[in-house]
Amino acid sequence: MDIGILGTGVVARTLGGRLDRLGHDVLLGTRDPAQTLARTEPDRFGAPPFARWQEAHREVGLGTFAQAAAHGELVVNATAGAASLDALRSAGPETLAGKVLLDVANPLDPSSGFPPALAVSNTDSLAEQIQRLVPGARLVKSLNTVNASVMVDPAALADAEHSIFVSGDDAGAKAMVTDLLRSFGWRDVVDLGDLSTARGPEMLMPLWLRLFGALGTPAFNVKVVR
Ligand SMILES: NC(=O)c1ccc[n+]([C@@H]2O[C@H](COP(=O)([O-])OP(=O)(O)OC[C@H]3O[C@@H](n4cnc5c(N)ncnc54)[C@H](OP(=O)(O)O)[C@@H]3O)[C@@H](O)[C@H]2O)c1
Repeated sequence: MDIGILGTGVVARTLGGRLDRLGHDVLLGTRDPAQTLARTEPDRFGAPPFARWQEAHREVGLGTFAQAAAHGELVVNATAGAASLDALRSAGPETLAGKVLLDVANPLDPSSGFPPALAVSNTDSLAEQIQRLVPGARLVKSLNTVNASVMVDPAALADAEHSIFVSGDDAGAKAMVTDLLRSFGWRDVVDLGDLSTARGPEMLMPLWLRLFGALGTPAFNVKVVR
């Protein structure tokens, strides 16, 4: 499948690399491809500059947000939560009409210090803000509750039976995303319901950040025990 990923950070790279290995045709999107390729310093999380990563992932293309949106039958939003609405405006709401849009972003407010606060919560969510901006897209929220490496390789954790959530209004879009999750190795995919249910997984972030601090590793997840 042709997949566009909005973003060039660790999440976009990790998803892009895994999707490429699974045989998909992946194009990552960025604000300014030339500028992104010209970066020589590690990013704020210490990840190597994009050009170095791409040397090892020659099959994964790089274009603008608009080109990535046009490329994908499925498009992933993997941009910083505070910038996601701007990124999606650049991607083009009309281009995204009818496409499945998988939103993995978290609405973290980096200006609030550590731990970052949620910029939206309780009665709204980033996913719903995105859906209002891009009303024609078939939006699904998922994967935002786990670290990038866990997203694409859930079996790497000691207990492989942990849970991932999907939220969205379009059953066909959720089925497509669920198939993708299963191709990564996810077994317990919990369909929470319509898009407003994305508020819950987004509001898991304060707990995730505290678990990260307490456990000293991002390689963990929650498990729903029935
Ligand atoms: N890190 C994780 O393991 C993890 C896990 C779950 C969910 N998430 C969520 O996934 C998303 C991506 O996370 P990340 O750690 O890979 O990267 P990130 O640093 O949060 O985001 C990087 C991306 O955001 C774009 N961006 C930043 N400021 C922008 C602006 N003003 N306008 C337009 N685009 C802008 C960047 O564009 P350029 O390419 O142009 O620089 C880049 O592609 C975030 O929402 C994060 O909360 C992360």
